[in-house]
Amino acid sequence: MSGSRVPIANHISQELLNKNPTILDHVNDSFDLDYDAITLPFTKPSWKARWQRYCVANEDDVKKGRARSSYIAGKSENVVQDRQTAKEAEVWRLTRVYDKGEVNVSKLDECESVVAFASDWLELDSPDEGIRFDSEMALKQEVAYASYLSLHTLILPAPRNRKFIADYARSVMAALDNTTYLQLSVVIPVSDPAELEQSETASPALSEFKGDPSSTWEAWDAIRTLCDYSPRLGLALDLSQPLPPPSALKRWSSEPTRQIIIPANAFVGNAKGYPVLSKPCQEFIKEQMKTLPTIILTETFDGIHKSGGSKAYVQYLRYMEKQSSDSATSVENFASGYMDWLQAPLQPLLDNLDSTTYEIFEKDPVKYQKYEQAAYLALLDREPNSLTRIAVVGAGRGPLVQGAINAVDAAGEGRRIHIMAIEKNPNACVTLQGRMDEWNESKTATVELVFGDMRIIELEEEQKNDILISELLGSFGDNELSPECLDGAMRLLKPYGVSIPSYYTSYVAPLSSSKLYNEVMHMGDAKSAEMPYVVMFQAVNILSSQDKEKNRKAVQQCWSYKHPSKYEFVMDRNGNPMSNYHNTRAAHLTFSIPHAGVLHGLAGYFEAHLYGNVWLSTHPERYDQEMLSWFPIYFPINMGVYLPTRSEVDVHLWRLTDNKKVWFEWSVEVFVIIDGNRVKINQSKLHNHDAKHNRIEL
Ligand SMILES: C[S@@+](CC[C@H](N)C(=O)[O-])C[C@H]1O[C@@H](n2cnc3c(N)ncnc32)[C@H](O)[C@@H]1O
Repeated sequence: MSGSRVPIANHISQELLNKNPTILDHVNDSFDLDYDAITLPFTKPSWKARWQRYCVANEDDVKKGRARSSYIAGKSENVVQDRQTAKEAEVWRLTRVYDKGEVNVSKLDECESVVAFASDWLELDSPDEGIRFDSEMALKQEVAYASYLSLHTLILPAPRNRKFIADYARSVMAALDNTTYLQLSVVIPVSDPAELEQSETASPALSEFKGDPSSTWEAWDAIRTLCDYSPRLGLALDLSQPLPPPSALKRWSSEPTRQIIIPANAFVGNAKGYPVLSKPCQEFIKEQMKTLPTIILTETFDGIHKSGGSKAYVQYLRYMEKQSSDSATSVENFASGYMDWLQAPLQPLLDNLDSTTYEIFEKDPVKYQKYEQAAYLALLDREPNSLTRIAVVGAGRGPLVQGAINAVDAAGEGRRIHIMAIEKNPNACVTLQGRMDEWNESKTATVELVFGDMRIIELEEEQKNDILISELLGSFGDNELSPECLDGAMRLLKPYGVSIPSYYTSYVAPLSSSKLYNEVMHMGDAKSAEMPYVVMFQAVNILSSQDKEKNRKAVQQCWSYKHPSKYEFVMDRNGNPMSNYHNTRAAHLTFSIPHAGVLHGLAGYFEAHLYGNVWLSTHPERYDQEMLSWFPIYFPINMGVYLPTRSEVDVHLWRLTDNKKVWFEWSVEVFVIIDGNRVKINQSKLHNHDAKHNRIEL
């Protein structure tokens, strides 16, 4: 967790506001109970009564909860308004003014710690056209008044009618367009209980078919897509309903959840009667807490649990918050503030890294220890009482040189090493020079510094090395040009010499993340959606899963590079491969998608074999939690690609080169299986074609 406190809000019901309408009293009382904010209904029942008088024709229907069309829409046969009311309604439609007694908040200073719920009786998706338009008008009035008071967020009632979801979304979009800063959140239940019931009672065959409780997520997806992924539109996830199965639940992790609403009755009583959350709910909330949504506790004053009183709920959540911050990994602590942050990948061959960047690398507690272990094992395989020549290529500020010295000391038995530290960054070479005295005090090692590019420096035959150590790996393995640099450095190695790493493999998986997609799409130029980024994933969901029947993995292998290569290249006169075309690669992979989702790009990882049993890995199923050096890579897709339940995605990815540069191109295709046949339903464009938007310079 980022170290920031998770905001928790205390919901103040209309009943409580009727007893004490002073907002600041509620705010201060809530602060005393360790809350950070309050939520409340924005408007009062008197506004509802006036709106219904204006816009709903038949009182009987109102009582039954069936609103009817407005006078002005003129669709209803049931219009019973008198002329006077009709006229007042028209005046309201033109002016949209509240009476002071119709709103719960009216002063600027009351609003600082308030999140408001818009009128929950608004029916933006009513089957009745008149009601829909008048509800939209009322929403715009609330939005305008909320903006006037500088409220930060207004939470909209959940959509109720799938058939009219486009009307709902259009009204939300209109409300967003009417304001500049106000954030809107849509309440969405975490599941639809009817769907959960169906999947439990259906026969096993059917339950597999129906076992994807997705309608509430699909409603949300439709709304945010129609609202063009507005960054001011978020989700208020309502946990009043039972949680869906874990595989469907994880879908919410990639959505912009700004609030989580937990009613007191979602808690269960523990042995002593105190409210606690079920294990799956705890896990879910802890995961969600990492993105700091506001947790809204409701009905805490209703005395549902026999022990602890109304403050027991917030106390319990604070306890959970502490637990999850105590269990945060080093990566989570290190990367807090970088979560879901899009960074352009480094180009250490083209650019000279600065000292701060090296310093950040050097904080990694795992990488250097693994390199040292690999060097140790490689030295143990050398004869005792022998001299081993080691080239550390791309030595940076020298941590791998130090690692090799530690390794030879540990290997003992008269082993000695000579290290050639090669670095092309002139600035880092100054730091390396500064360490020479210390290194050359060693009884087992001598160190020689060579300034230059490993692909062109020349060595006499007797200067060639037994072991070549490098760390030129990017987030996708090969994306910082390790293959090209090491091809050029193989001249520095004796025949049968060893490279650490000896090979590395790139992996990919389809991902969903409205956050990342939003960031990329709102950067405002075509280029942004056609270049890879380095990202510490947080609000990201991998859409694929293992499919044993079809022998498919959730995260699949793209390609590998091996050093020294098993191929014999045609060499130029300097001993380098004549062209770089042997380093082109292509991957065509098919992924199984168990649950509906929206694809926003590809997640890339790598795994590198150093020596013996020593590996580096960022693969999500076997990465080292303490390793800080690499975040995954993200290849965006420039449109949200809808993937139905049990669909298949074909990912096409290429690593291409023309001797001056390397670049990636990528695209996806979507298929569903109908009567055993693969039917294509969608595809993306080819991204970054011919390095138009992104290249890595050789
Ligand atoms: C990722 S940094 C690793 C630095 C250091 N070995 C470490 O692990 O902290 C890669 C280093 O390789 C250097 N480098 C990259 N390409 C090179 C080349 N062709 N010849 C020499 N040095 C190179 C860069 O300047 C940079 O210092």
